[in-house]
Amino acid sequence: MTRRATLLALSALGASYRFFLKGQAVGPASLMDFEPLAKQVISPMAFEYIASGAADEITLRANREAWNKISLKPRVLVDVSRIDTKQTLLGQELAFPILLAPTATHKLVHPQGELATTRAASASSITFVVSTLSSVTIEEISKAANSTLWFQLYVQKDRSITRELMKRSEVAGCRAFCITVDTPVRGVRDHDVRAGYHLPPGVQFANIETRPGELGPQVLNASLTWSDIDWVRSQTRLPVLLKGILSAEDASTAAKEGFAGVIVSNHGARNLDTTPATVEALPLVVDKVNGQIPVLVDGGIRRGTDVLKAIALGATAVLIGRPYLYGLGYRGEEGVSQVVRMLRTEFQAAMALTGQTSIAGINRSILWS
Ligand code: FNR
Ligand code: LAC
Repeated sequence: MTRRATLLALSALGASYRFFLKGQAVGPASLMDFEPLAKQVISPMAFEYIASGAADEITLRANREAWNKISLKPRVLVDVSRIDTKQTLLGQELAFPILLAPTATHKLVHPQGELATTRAASASSITFVVSTLSSVTIEEISKAANSTLWFQLYVQKDRSITRELMKRSEVAGCRAFCITVDTPVRGVRDHDVRAGYHLPPGVQFANIETRPGELGPQVLNASLTWSDIDWVRSQTRLPVLLKGILSAEDASTAAKEGFAGVIVSNHGARNLDTTPATVEALPLVVDKVNGQIPVLVDGGIRRGTDVLKAIALGATAVLIGRPYLYGLGYRGEEGVSQVVRMLRTEFQAAMALTGQTSIAGINRSILWS
């Protein structure tokens, strides 16, 4: 029996659940609950890779704390019996303003990898941004998909490889590209060093050819500049967003250059430690961009109230990373679906309790100060 099978069997018996109600095992109640549940079944190496942030994890903590520090203003006696969470983003209608962020190698936490994630995304009507570093090919993912896919691009040094990746994702039906611009090199990841990060047998970067286990200069591009991504944009008619913008200056350049959108992100605090939390950067970026292009945000979003705060501060939508990976590790497709369902339900409740019935009506007036 593998470690995973043993632990799953144990948790089926209720023996390793952390959540007990009068001695009876019950399931997770919030996104945070999935982390300890996943930790019980995924390898310690995979857990460290996912959970950790760069260096001293100052930014990792800040990403969470900053959402918590923002207070909301409840409003009463508004008819909130009907709540509409629909949002329009780049011509696409989202049932609710949440997307699954691109994350590498889902097979690290579940044997079905991105196929399970994709099925859950389809069942939950949520857009899934597939990573360049997925452990299932974009073609296989697309066959399993019934909802919208976007493709996250790590621009490769060899332009022909990048062009090929883009072609393949377009043929697979992806509806937008997110170019990740915050990772010219890998961040300082103490936890990965200690845990001996590597791709175990059977887990590969399925879309690109690399030396086994390599997550460094072979897949990242330290020489990438604005003129290179201009070239990338010229290769497609699909919308191209930039992911990993924190400074208002860069956001302003992105808008001026005509990119389709920006994702305010510090890569889940995995790259440069001691940057501000993303929600601190968000209003500065929103003000600078001034409605020219949509602004999305990710980093530490775990509660429906976080989603509401992001929208109030001017984000069009948010993305979540780690929570759905934990859901995937814990229970495969069903785990991812549970995570999405919970966040969506919490978001609706947060709207109701602040007297909001549609996304369009949400603005900074629902924040306490
Ligand atoms: C990531 N992220 C990421 N981003 C990206 O553009 N391409 C990638 O391949 C990956 N891979 C990846 C792996 C893992 C394990 C994590 C946790 C994150 C970053 C991701 O898209 C997103 O920005 C953050 O995860 C958002 O923060 P939270 O929700 O995890 O706090
Ligand atoms: C990471 C890279 C793969 O965050 O984006 O691990």
